[in-house]
Parts: sequence; C-alpha cells; structure tokens
Amino acid sequence: MNEIKQPDMPVSASVLGADLMRLGEEIEMAKRVGVQWIHCDHMDGHFVPNISFGPSFLAAIRKKTDLFLDVHLMLEHPMDFIDIYAKAGADLICVHAEAKDDPEKVIKAIKAHGIGAGIAIKPATSPEAIEHLLPLCDMVLVMLVEPGFGGQGLRQDCMDKLPVLRQMIEKLGKPVIVEVDGGVKTGNAGEVLEAGAQMLVMGTGFFGAEDPQSVADAVCREARACGL
Ligand code: DX5
Ligand code: ZN
Repeated sequence: MNEIKQPDMPVSASVLGADLMRLGEEIEMAKRVGVQWIHCDHMDGHFVPNISFGPSFLAAIRKKTDLFLDVHLMLEHPMDFIDIYAKAGADLICVHAEAKDDPEKVIKAIKAHGIGAGIAIKPATSPEAIEHLLPLCDMVLVMLVEPGFGGQGLRQDCMDKLPVLRQMIEKLGKPVIVEVDGGVKTGNAGEVLEAGAQMLVMGTGFFGAEDPQSVADAVCREARACGL
C-alpha cells in the first residue's frame, strides 16, 4: 500500500475552476508554479445538483500529467465506480460519508487498488460521524461549501471542524491529511491553515486568479508560518 505524503505545496488545484478548452495548458501552468496535486470533481446529478466530469476525463488528464490526481467523487453510489476511477489513473479517491453505499466497504475497495482513500463530509456532517473511519483513511475532506458548484463563498461555521479533526488524528497516531474544499482564496488561506487544514482545494481561487504564481507563493508562505 502506498503511503500518501503531504506535499510541500499545500494546494490541490481544482480543474472545475480551470478553462476547460485549455485544460492541458492549465495543468502545465499549475505544475510550473509548484502545484503538486490536481483535484478532480466527479458529480452524478443525484448526490449533488450538478454534473461535471467522468472517468474518461480523468484518464485524459492522466495521460498528460504526472501530478498527483486527487479525485473527489460526489456520487450517490461510489462503489460502482471505484475500479473504474482507479484504472483511469486516480492516485487518491475521496468519497462522501453521506453517500448511499457503506463508506467502510468503499474505502476498503479503494485501498485494494493500492491508492489513497479519503472520506469527505458535507457542512451538516460532524467529525464524530466519521471518527471510526479515520484509521482506514489517508485523508479527510471537509467541505466548506455545499458540494456541487465552484465559486461559492466559504462557510465560517464549517471551520470549527478542523481543530476537532486534527485532535482526533493526533490521538489516532497515524497520518491522515486534513483537506478543505470550497471558497478558499489567497485572502482566507492563512485562516483556514491556522484552523487546522493541511491541503487546500482551490478552483476559482487558483485558476481564476490573475497571477496563480502569487497565489501559490502566498499559500506556501502562510503554510510555513503555520509550521506546515
Ligand atoms: C465543489 C467542488 C470543489 C470546487 C471548489 O463542490 O468540490 O472542488 O472546485 O471550487 P472553488 O475553489 O471555486 O470554491
Ligand atoms: Zn471537490
């Protein structure tokens, strides 16, 4: 089993915020400015009220880049798609605790492929609801917005979960990366990292920025200031 390491650059650039007609160039640009993780959102129109990309989209990205592919499945039935996304080239697959399949079984199916597994929680789900799953996971993804759309404002009420999760993980004594998703920008990255996040998913905050290099540099500075 591969151990998933926290990368030096704590940004997972979300392609939902990229210019899709220039996706190859956008991913090359992300790599050039030091980004190591690419975040890919997959939605089914049921679990969330939107549809985004499918496995062939991920396979196309995999052919073009060696960056770490952080796959976020917003699917009602993720179990049906684990083998497919693993074969398409995911390095880590994150599934929602609120999905209809048993999360423990889904996480074990992901780990059987020798890749990383993550558990995601929507704003209404507490850290306690997934505490028993942390020993099986490499990452926990805390949604700071209702999943489904990029470009929303971060919900402050979700931030309280971050120190709680960091404590749970410390008690566990095994590395589990705390990632946040939704509404993260240069202006709030410091606050989010300070609260306990270790990886920041950034869609519009990165690809939509005038100068993504300065976003990457600013996030790195904030992360170093927090001791990451
Ligand atoms: C939303 C997705 C996010 C999205 C974030 O449901 O899970 O990954 O790309 O976009 P921003 O960073 O624009 O809020
Ligand atoms: Zn996402």
